[in-house]
Amino acid sequence: MAVHIVVLAAGQGKRMNSELPKVAHPIAGRTMLGWVLAAAQPLQPESTVVVLGHGADVVRETLPSDVVVAIQEQQLGTGHAAQIGIAALGDTLPGDVIVVLYGDTPMLTPSLVQELADVQADETGRLITAHIDDPSGYGRVVRDESGSVQEIVEHRDCTPEQLEIKEFNAGIYAIRADEFRAALDEITDDNAQGEYYITDVVAILAGKGDKLEAVVSRPEEVAGINSHDQLAEAQQELRTRVNERLMQSGVWMLDPQRTYIDETVTVAPGARIYPGVHLEGDTTIAAHAVVGPDSFIVDSSIGEGARVWYSVVRGAVVGENCQVGPYASLREGSVMEAGSKIGTFVETKNTTLGEGAKANHQAYLGDAEVGARSNIGAGTVTVNYDGVDKHKTEIGEDAFIGSDTMLVAPVTIGDRASTGAGSVITNDVSDDALAIERSGQREIPGYSHRRQARKAAKKAED
Ligand code: UD1
Ligand code: CA
Repeated sequence: MAVHIVVLAAGQGKRMNSELPKVAHPIAGRTMLGWVLAAAQPLQPESTVVVLGHGADVVRETLPSDVVVAIQEQQLGTGHAAQIGIAALGDTLPGDVIVVLYGDTPMLTPSLVQELADVQADETGRLITAHIDDPSGYGRVVRDESGSVQEIVEHRDCTPEQLEIKEFNAGIYAIRADEFRAALDEITDDNAQGEYYITDVVAILAGKGDKLEAVVSRPEEVAGINSHDQLAEAQQELRTRVNERLMQSGVWMLDPQRTYIDETVTVAPGARIYPGVHLEGDTTIAAHAVVGPDSFIVDSSIGEGARVWYSVVRGAVVGENCQVGPYASLREGSVMEAGSKIGTFVETKNTTLGEGAKANHQAYLGDAEVGARSNIGAGTVTVNYDGVDKHKTEIGEDAFIGSDTMLVAPVTIGDRASTGAGSVITNDVSDDALAIERSGQREIPGYSHRRQARKAAKKAED
């Protein structure tokens, strides 16, 4: 028996009041739809179709290449979307199971989806339900005296008695292919919203004696996201799952509630994460690294034993035992080799710092190569941009760049070379040399007396 997956994700998500299609909203490193697809992945589906409509181009960009996209031009309801998705699956065998999921239930777990799809030989299919005190907005699960599921009634179509039902439809179904297709052929748009509801399939099948088995789940796993406050709850829940997984593996967190780690990030056991840290994208934190408090790290790797605090690190490589911050900004292409230091109010871009090199205070290093053990004084700027092109600064090993040096690129500073504080360096500096560019200091004796006299004269005038 093969499993096929159809995910319905064509709706606009009106209640989000957002330009972004609802299912494309990011949650802890994946889109809402990405979480649904990930939960279904362990089923090893023979084929996966995602039904898109509103904002299809934006959503398509976020999908893996092996997913087939079917377009629902007009959103006539979940039943109509399911028809389109199932038609795009291609051939299915009668005993195959089609799993239909909604793209807006990101908290689904793989184990729940697996239980759903485990349709037994004598069953037509299964659906997932859950109980909550206030199921407003959800379709209600109507059972007969024997407890079998008879039908799903949408909130707006419920009788006052049905509104009292606390068991709601999660919107996830696993039904045998032939029965599913036949039942979908029979649905109509005769309801409060004038839409084709996939949920009508349940009553159609029950009418033929093909009852669906209900898998009752925890409501946190199946909540549908229709608004920003529900999105925030989903973020909270999924972030908690990421943090719990990491802590179980041996990552130390002072305050997981205030630690924001994407699903895509790798954190090695033995790393320590302080509050206010955001780790995003393709980021790796090695063992014994200490990150935070209050740092933002995206698409970067932090080496073993390194420390990053109160800093922003984007597209950078921080080597073993390096130190970053407080208040540093490492931009795209920054590479710190082992034991190097970037201190307070230092910005780097497309710059390599050799082993043990240091830029401890207030500097800008752009398009630069700094050799091992060199020291960059406070206030140093690589003047890399002439208004048209970017140019490179090369600094050798064991060099000493004095405070407030302007390195006007392109320029090369030799090994063990020094620059005098306050110099504007426009020519290359040889190995072992000191370059100093500074006008001589003048002194005007008694200057304060002249100033006082001028002040007094002005007062007399007024
Ligand atoms: C749906 C169910 C309801 C269930 C709830 C669970 C129906 C009729 N109702 O209601 O029983 O309790 O989910 O969260 O199915 N979509 C399309 N094309 C359409 C309409 C919707 O692809 O024409 C997609 C949406 O993008 C969304 C999903 O289907 O991802 C569910 O649609 P939504 O409008 O959110 O349904 P609910 O009103 O929440
Ligand atoms: Ca919904």
